[in-house]
Amino acid sequence: MTGNEIRQAFLDYFERHEHKVVHSSPLLPANDPTLLFINAGMNQFKDVFLGLEKRDYSRAVTSQKCLRAGGKHNDLDEVGKTARHQTFFEMLGNFSFGDYFKKEAIEYAWDLLVNEFKLAPERLWFSVFEGDDEVPPDDEARALWEKVGAAPERILGFGRKDNFWQMGDTGPCGPSSEIFHYMGDDPLDPEKNSPYWVNGPGDTTIEIWNLVFMQFNRTHEKDGTFKLTPLPAPSVDTGMGLERMAAVMQHVETNYETDLIKPFVEFVAELANA
Ligand code: GLY
Repeated sequence: MTGNEIRQAFLDYFERHEHKVVHSSPLLPANDPTLLFINAGMNQFKDVFLGLEKRDYSRAVTSQKCLRAGGKHNDLDEVGKTARHQTFFEMLGNFSFGDYFKKEAIEYAWDLLVNEFKLAPERLWFSVFEGDDEVPPDDEARALWEKVGAAPERILGFGRKDNFWQMGDTGPCGPSSEIFHYMGDDPLDPEKNSPYWVNGPGDTTIEIWNLVFMQFNRTHEKDGTFKLTPLPAPSVDTGMGLERMAAVMQHVETNYETDLIKPFVEFVAELANA
């Protein structure tokens, strides 16, 4: 599939499941002093998650332009060192505003990846929040992955750094569950296709999709501490890297070799006589 086909397939899949297709917002956030650039699909829905704004839909799907060049989830230091980090990228996301929660989010993700995109389950890994002194382990997400068909040994627990998502120091947030894909040649090799590479070194096992179970608002208190308060309704915010998904579907090793980016590299190379 081309990058354009992957984007369209994602939007179409969720539209078929009653999601409103919403345009990407501009890269500069409107009325949000906590953020310099849009860094995730959920930014334009922040006030909807917080219950401050009502829309005439409770499910949405977007392909959002993102720029991660500073602040939380800043991947700038990784750009140029890995095959999968970019400053600018497109994030495909489905959103529920107090409508469905973990069960449907996990069912949709499995169905889209395995039945529509035809990814082999033996190449997929799943991570869930393992809990800390503030938020309990996400045993529910683990059980739901098993129920849709994930092998128990392919579901791994990680801490706050990897499996708790927040858009900035403050704002809507919650435990997350990530999906990884082993891109190598030998899925049957227990050392190459192993848990060691999930959130580990290299670009062969890469995160392709993050499902965030939005449950809290993180606020900065007058005494300098941060506080988690439950959101008016548990919600869902997901983010799939379009260029990473294109690398998976096009069987190439880096995002730069996908049809989304390669033409730019070739154009610059031509100008530079490289
Ligand atoms: N908001 C989900 C993500 O950026 O991964």
